[in-house]
Amino acid sequence: MAPSSSAPLGIGVVGGGSIAEWHLNSYANNPDARIVAVADVDLARAQARAAQCTALAAELGRAAEPVRAYASHTELLADADVEAVSVCTRNDTHSSVAVDVLASGRSALVEKPMARTVAEAEAIVAAEAASDGVVQVGYVRRWSPNAQVLKTFADAGDLGPVYYAKATCLRQAGNPGGWFADREVSGGGPLIDVGVHFLDLAWWFMGAPKAQAVSGYTSDRLGNRGNIESLTRWKSADYDVSKNSVEDLAGAVVRFEGGAVLHLDVSYSLHGRPQIGLALFGERGGAELEPALTLFTEQHDTITEVVPHVDSRSFDIVPAFQNEIDGFVRAARGLEPSIAPAAHGLEMVKIVTAIYESADKGTEITL
Ligand SMILES: NC(=O)c1ccc[n+]([C@@H]2O[C@H](COP(=O)([O-])OP(=O)(O)OC[C@H]3O[C@@H](n4cnc5c(N)ncnc54)[C@H](O)[C@@H]3O)[C@@H](O)[C@H]2O)c1
Repeated sequence: MAPSSSAPLGIGVVGGGSIAEWHLNSYANNPDARIVAVADVDLARAQARAAQCTALAAELGRAAEPVRAYASHTELLADADVEAVSVCTRNDTHSSVAVDVLASGRSALVEKPMARTVAEAEAIVAAEAASDGVVQVGYVRRWSPNAQVLKTFADAGDLGPVYYAKATCLRQAGNPGGWFADREVSGGGPLIDVGVHFLDLAWWFMGAPKAQAVSGYTSDRLGNRGNIESLTRWKSADYDVSKNSVEDLAGAVVRFEGGAVLHLDVSYSLHGRPQIGLALFGERGGAELEPALTLFTEQHDTITEVVPHVDSRSFDIVPAFQNEIDGFVRAARGLEPSIAPAAHGLEMVKIVTAIYESADKGTEITL
């Protein structure tokens, strides 16, 4: 049963590392939520995050009880004041933690990728079906103001059916180290980490078609480029460059029912310029969401380019996280369904898994 009280929704966050800070800051700014507890297997880290949240609440004039710290998600779930949970742990624990959250009747905002394997993702979908709680997947780019504006145009039919999409996220030295670089724990490298954001975004704008066939490739020629110190990078809370077992480049062509095609390339390490791109090509119009929102169409036998005047035409992380958290609070309350449901998380895991399988076998995989 969705929490029906008018009191702010009690929030627990499992995993107190780098991404947790974004969740916690956004919950702190949502008047309909209150942070109750943080859990981390590293209790000192959970305690530091909890203290940070308590101080932030006071700063925002939302002083309440001190935020509690636990050493495991099971202890956090035993806290009756926790009504909904963000799962911000490393990828290998998303499924087991989310299943426990759902089994307790609570809703779960599960960071991306929803899971490492199809079986783990299916376990989350099954647990949601048997629970009163709901799942939202952490596809934060869907909530960025530029994506929300484009969705309005796309839903109004301005693009028509999208039959081709190109998604690119090429980093020069972007391996976050630690568990991200351990394939057993993360499930893979840039493909399952950042690639899943771009795949998901393109797929969402294509109308979430069923994938039919995947041809993928990966490469690990450069390693993690841990020697590069002149560029900042996203780092795991347990940053360590001494080990690396993930690919540093991946790409794919995905074919969908109805004939639409998606082209993806993504890297952690590459000799070349960083590139971010998301382009959609439809029968009535086209759009670039990244690097800057632009629409393309035809008017009076002339090709035109439309530049929306918005606060930010590129991914804007602060409002994107705020929108994502606000959307989860509404979904957990049962006020509206999330725009990023578990079924979408499962579909992305299926596609990512097929890309890795295709790369390993050197052949196209049929889904
Ligand atoms: N949405 C985004 O743009 C985005 C960006 C970065 C990371 N992420 C995702 O967020 C998740 C966490 O990434 P991060 O960068 O914060 O990693 P991190 O290494 O900084 O933090 C992970 C934390 O989880 C804790 N932890 C591990 N297993 C646990 C368990 N069973 N119970 C409780 N705590 C546990 C670790 O001790 C660590 O503090 C990953 O799934 C990652 O893919 C999403």
